[in-house]
Amino acid sequence: MTVTTPLIGAPIDRIDGADKVRGRAQYAYEHPVERPLYLFPLQARIALGRVTTLDASAALREQGVVAVLTHENALRLADVSDAELAILQSPDVAFRGQFIGAVVAEEPETARRAAGLVRVEYQEHPHDVDLHPARPDLVTPGEVNGGFATDTTEGDVDGALASAAVTLDATYTTPLEHNNPLEPHATIARWENGELTLHDSTQGVHWVRDAISGLFGMDPERIHVVCPHVGGGFGSKGLPHAHVVLTAMAARLVSPRPVKLALTRQQMFDVVGYRTGTIQHIRLGCDSRGHLTAISHDVVEQTSRIKEFAEQTAVPTRTMYAAPNRRTTHRLARLDVPVPTWMRAPGECPGMFGLEVAMDEMAIACGLDPVEFRARNEPDTDPATGRPFSSRHLVDCLREGARRFGWYDRAPAPRSNRDGRWLVGTGVAASTYPVFSMPGSRATIQARPDGRYRVLIGAADIGTGAWTALTQIAADALGVAMDDVSLSIGDTDLPYASGAGGSTGITCWGSAIVDAARGLREVLPAGEPVPEEGVEVTGRLPKNPHAGRLAMHSFGAQFAEVHVHADTGEIRVPRLFGLFALGRMINAKTGRSQLIGGMTMGLSMALHEHSVVDRRFGHVVTRDLAEYHVASNADVGRLDADWIEEDDPYVNPLGSKGIGELGIVGTAAAIANAAYHATGVRVRDLPITLDKFL
Ligand code: MOS
Repeated sequence: MTVTTPLIGAPIDRIDGADKVRGRAQYAYEHPVERPLYLFPLQARIALGRVTTLDASAALREQGVVAVLTHENALRLADVSDAELAILQSPDVAFRGQFIGAVVAEEPETARRAAGLVRVEYQEHPHDVDLHPARPDLVTPGEVNGGFATDTTEGDVDGALASAAVTLDATYTTPLEHNNPLEPHATIARWENGELTLHDSTQGVHWVRDAISGLFGMDPERIHVVCPHVGGGFGSKGLPHAHVVLTAMAARLVSPRPVKLALTRQQMFDVVGYRTGTIQHIRLGCDSRGHLTAISHDVVEQTSRIKEFAEQTAVPTRTMYAAPNRRTTHRLARLDVPVPTWMRAPGECPGMFGLEVAMDEMAIACGLDPVEFRARNEPDTDPATGRPFSSRHLVDCLREGARRFGWYDRAPAPRSNRDGRWLVGTGVAASTYPVFSMPGSRATIQARPDGRYRVLIGAADIGTGAWTALTQIAADALGVAMDDVSLSIGDTDLPYASGAGGSTGITCWGSAIVDAARGLREVLPAGEPVPEEGVEVTGRLPKNPHAGRLAMHSFGAQFAEVHVHADTGEIRVPRLFGLFALGRMINAKTGRSQLIGGMTMGLSMALHEHSVVDRRFGHVVTRDLAEYHVASNADVGRLDADWIEEDDPYVNPLGSKGIGELGIVGTAAAIANAAYHATGVRVRDLPITLDKFL
């Protein structure tokens, strides 16, 4: 069949959309299993210490309770080096909410009630959960997330600041934030004949298999992980967390019966990671013509005492703007808290809040328009590496975005525009995200004599539209209609795929599919009939020959209109517009949804999200969606995203840069900058709540 319209870039509806709307798409917890048992976790009620007594006798007397898992009867793990995952190996407690056991019962309600009957006594040690920059015990991480160096320095920042015509010295803070995907983290585990099957809500089935095989000392071939659909993850389902281990351990106790666990919303605030709070000290120096002479970004953030995770907060600052004198640092407070993890654009998102508010402040201090100030400091090559950019269209996004937003209509002075009792302002911020690549993805294409093709890859669709975009990529590469391609993803029986992380899914899996299609055309040129027995070819993500030579990043510009009530300080965001340079767009519909979804999450970060820790007990008190606010429809006004034509032949065979995370970066800064323009009050501490204007 010949295809007349180009598939790549077309706004194709989700091929899984109808199944999802009708409730036919099966999520992890919904997978039908025979005679399931249900698990309810036991969680530590202290932040540091050890369990001295764990008396399960009353729970075990309850009708329907099958087993109580504790550190005494839990499986000894083969590898305990990852202390987040190596649970129940001792009575020690490292943070409040850590798993200390589980009740397994015939019904979920029984398990939950019986969990309340388990009597636990502790020996408690003084704990420390306070993140602040003056701690004498801050440590330098080995590296920051993404494998980047902790510190960078070039030139003489202090000297340049001392002689600068204009300087800025300010501190920006972002709070702890928790991922709240609609679908909670859920696992079904079943052991049979020494083999483990997991139906797990995850961003990467093979990543789960690899982690569990190491922990349990098992051949990966004996672990089967299945996950066809995911209701969001945003990074919190990127790697398995302790609930997967807990469920697998419990299922071993009751083998061969399967054990089901869906975390409650409140439990998600304890055990599936979070975005660390950040304290960012930024210093900028400029000459009299508004050229940056110094950029310094020093970050303090937290990790858990049991496992290091260092968010790469200052890393984007290394690439954004030209300046001869530069410095970035990351320091960590090791606290008695859960282990932080990825949350949509980890590092780039909080770091660009600090940098882009600082850039707004500096533009104003220099008497320059914030769009023009950024354009004036555009580097020719990547300041971090000295490499040329594979493509960089930040200034085009800023200028074209400004034109389309109506930016140049504004009076630059703050408090110059009102709508009744509402103060009205506009703000801009830049966005960026690196083009990462995750190694190892392979894809198999089977051509059949009836003209149909099967595409097999252990990829994940976490709600992004990967089912659709990968089918588009395959059909385009094969030169057939999408209807002739059937895709299988989300299963470790399929060829290895990296996880949906770092905005790499479509680019890495898609490149493997394109490679397989190319291989297929070598053995079976287009137009030749497929033999009776069919043809099968496996492709892989090719090594990028430009990887060490070019700097590869997406860019964008975010514009916000903000209204702040003159009397109450209430803040509204009636308009957001983002214009992005992201290489080639694969699916204009699902891709736009990724961008506006990211921007909505950025709006949520700007106005609402805040995990408040009770330092006395060490837990997050805003631990459900009544207390931890996320943006709702009523918070979002006119929201639009678009992208410019960008041809980048260097990033990968598809020319696409990845879009899952770009949209969240810069949104909160654009909103904070607009709030300043509206009110004259500079908010440097997220979220931007009404008290900050009074
Ligand atoms: Mo993303 S935070 O890499 O899932």
